[in-house]
Amino acid sequence: MEKSPYHINGKLHVTGQTRFTLDENKPSGLLYMKILFSTQAHARIVSVNFYEAQTLPGVRGIFTYKDIPGENQTGVAVHDEPLLPEDEVTYAGQPVAVVVGESPEICKKAVNCIDVRYELLETVFTIEEALKKNSVLGKENALKKGDPEAMWEKCPHILEGEFSGGGQEHLYLETQRVRVVPDEDNHFYVYSATQAPTEIQEVCARVLNLTSKDITVDVKRLGGAFGGKERNSTIYTALAAVAAYRTGNPVEFEMERHEDIRFTGKRHPFKTHYKVGFDENGKLIAGDFSIYLNGGAYTDLSMAILERAVWHIDNAYHYPHIKVRGLALRTNLPPNTAFRGFGGPQGIFSSEFVMERIAKVVKKDIFEIRALNAYKEGETTPYGQEVHEVIFDEIFEKLKNISGYDKLRKECDEFNRNNKYKKRGIGITPVKFGISFTAAFLNQGAALIWVFSDGTVSVSHGGIEMGQELNTKIAQIVAKTLGVSFDVIKIESTNVKRVANTSPTAASSGTDLNGNAARLAAGKIKKRLIPVAKELIEKHYGISITEDDVVFDNGVACSKENPEKSIPFNEIAETAYMNRINLGAQAFYKTPGIYFDREKGKGEPFYYFVFGAALTQAEIDTLTGATEVQKAFIVHESANSINIPVDKGQIEGGYIQGMGWVTMEEIVINEKGENTTGTTSTYKIPSFDDLPEVFKVEMLPRKRKFASVYGSKAIGEPPFMYGISAFFAIKDAIESVTDHKKEADLTAPATPEKILMAIEELKD
Ligand code: MTE
Ligand code: HPA
Ligand code: MOS
Repeated sequence: MEKSPYHINGKLHVTGQTRFTLDENKPSGLLYMKILFSTQAHARIVSVNFYEAQTLPGVRGIFTYKDIPGENQTGVAVHDEPLLPEDEVTYAGQPVAVVVGESPEICKKAVNCIDVRYELLETVFTIEEALKKNSVLGKENALKKGDPEAMWEKCPHILEGEFSGGGQEHLYLETQRVRVVPDEDNHFYVYSATQAPTEIQEVCARVLNLTSKDITVDVKRLGGAFGGKERNSTIYTALAAVAAYRTGNPVEFEMERHEDIRFTGKRHPFKTHYKVGFDENGKLIAGDFSIYLNGGAYTDLSMAILERAVWHIDNAYHYPHIKVRGLALRTNLPPNTAFRGFGGPQGIFSSEFVMERIAKVVKKDIFEIRALNAYKEGETTPYGQEVHEVIFDEIFEKLKNISGYDKLRKECDEFNRNNKYKKRGIGITPVKFGISFTAAFLNQGAALIWVFSDGTVSVSHGGIEMGQELNTKIAQIVAKTLGVSFDVIKIESTNVKRVANTSPTAASSGTDLNGNAARLAAGKIKKRLIPVAKELIEKHYGISITEDDVVFDNGVACSKENPEKSIPFNEIAETAYMNRINLGAQAFYKTPGIYFDREKGKGEPFYYFVFGAALTQAEIDTLTGATEVQKAFIVHESANSINIPVDKGQIEGGYIQGMGWVTMEEIVINEKGENTTGTTSTYKIPSFDDLPEVFKVEMLPRKRKFASVYGSKAIGEPPFMYGISAFFAIKDAIESVTDHKKEADLTAPATPEKILMAIEELKD
């Protein structure tokens, strides 16, 4: 879109005036909630004694599962997760009871006085243990294309092995927060930091034994989410709803950072077993992959995440014959959940690991091996979807170009020859990411727009603003459709009574779904305003025009032929109002065409794909294992971006978050199943210091048939995968220790310890 230097909340953010959940004025009678979290990973609850806690002054209520008025269930896709356990806890950090009181401090004191006796049960924490014990969640997810078994004997080369990667903490700036305010007639207002307001509405209704009409969920914006507020927030919001119901007072809850890191679900750790066959050039013939995800104690979104992992194991590459199997394991960890990429990163990382190994076997350059195997126009994925408008050749060319790859490679080699202890390496990661919720029914959005008689505009839509600037984009879309200035538009909070039956803002499709709905709603109003504008122009200028001649642009309506003969938008709105013309419209959008046949394992689940590639140069210190990501280059096919600076921000942020996942972020679970990396000092995420000194993002604007609102493509998740290239840069640097004669045994995250161990092993 032509004008893009907008950021709808920019002024509020930089002046510190932005309000997040709980920043509103406090209602009278407000009480606070603290949770008693299980200290055991798997145990029978023998007794809960809160006699002493109850007598503390200021404590207003202590509630357990017995106090839940409705169903004790927070599961959505699968109903397997009690809100509060009745007799058994299944992860350390599971809420066991809640305390409500007059201050957070008194609640905390009371929580510490509650005496819970546990009888310990057998635990399982890792994928390996869970596989041994057959502790699984749901069913296996499987795909097959061609006949890989028949091909193995025809493959000149076969590689087989395992690869694994760790979990990841969301570390959104705003921790889990909620305020529930009781109203008359068993109605509740819920202000929750959630990506899924309709899910909150349904689950609150369910646990309170009420109905959807009794719960109003309202969300202004989130201080970051990254998938960590798609399901996690449901649990804490439902607990606060029970507390508000039982006390009759408004209740608020704010998770402490250490609680949030230790007790909420995260990205799924994974393990992939692979077998690939290829010819002398490294061209893929057949693949057989099994991907395992550590799902934690309850199903949560694991089945959908597993499916996306399975559907992304091909990444950018065409496998003529392939078999993919996915399995989610049940362990005694917090239920792992959505996190930027939603299984895609685990699939793509595995895919790239294999591609790197193939390059080593056939001694091919990292670009060459990928160009050889990258999808060509019209080739089909393992799930039978044709890949269209593929531009990997162009992307690779551009990436080589902007990074000066040939020179960079020479410089690295020379640096490595001249330096004994410091080593440099280069890694690349192409990305093909499917856009659409994999569950087809979720691909719907809606919007409600009112034009006021003064010409200003109120827009409500079903998406959640979480820092990705969805509201900026939707305001731009409405402004463009109505031909008004961006400044006359107000994007309202997301409220399930204004826009109902919302899908979570996830799967990168917030703008596609809600932006299209907003475009349609604005279009409806514009259609009604055209005759009004025509008449006003004719009357005012004494000319005669047709409705087709009327153009809305730049805050005025004018005749196409005579743009100077214009009427201001506010005058048109005022006239329409006086003539009793409806100035409001609701619209609905569903993604056309997508489907998937789960019996056959075939379909076209994605509306389109996002394409791009990244290159990273990293340096390692072979004495300490310390790493430095020095240079990053990204080429991203952006179709017709609605807002280039916003999209660039998503690309840079995504890269850094992905780079953190594969290099430094490590969740350590002890033998009791406790997360021992529960603070920002023990869980290291990238900071300003870790930004690559050279960081170049190149957008490739293209006119696309396979794209969404105003020719744009989704942006939120795909760039996360660019960060994976940092892992391969580090691996390359390690392997330079033996002049690339041996492959390093490295799994993710590539922490200093693992780097040192990999180097030691290489030297043996
Ligand atoms: N960007 C910011 N600043 N904060 C976030 O929480 N979440 C990511 C991505 N970018 C996130 C973000 C995730 S996981 C998704 S799915 C998308 O934004 C969701 O928003 P969209 O669908 O509007 O792109
Ligand atoms: N992506 C992200 N979040 C989701 C999805 C998906 O495909 N399905 C359900 N929640
Ligand atoms: Mo994003 S993981 O789909 O919220």
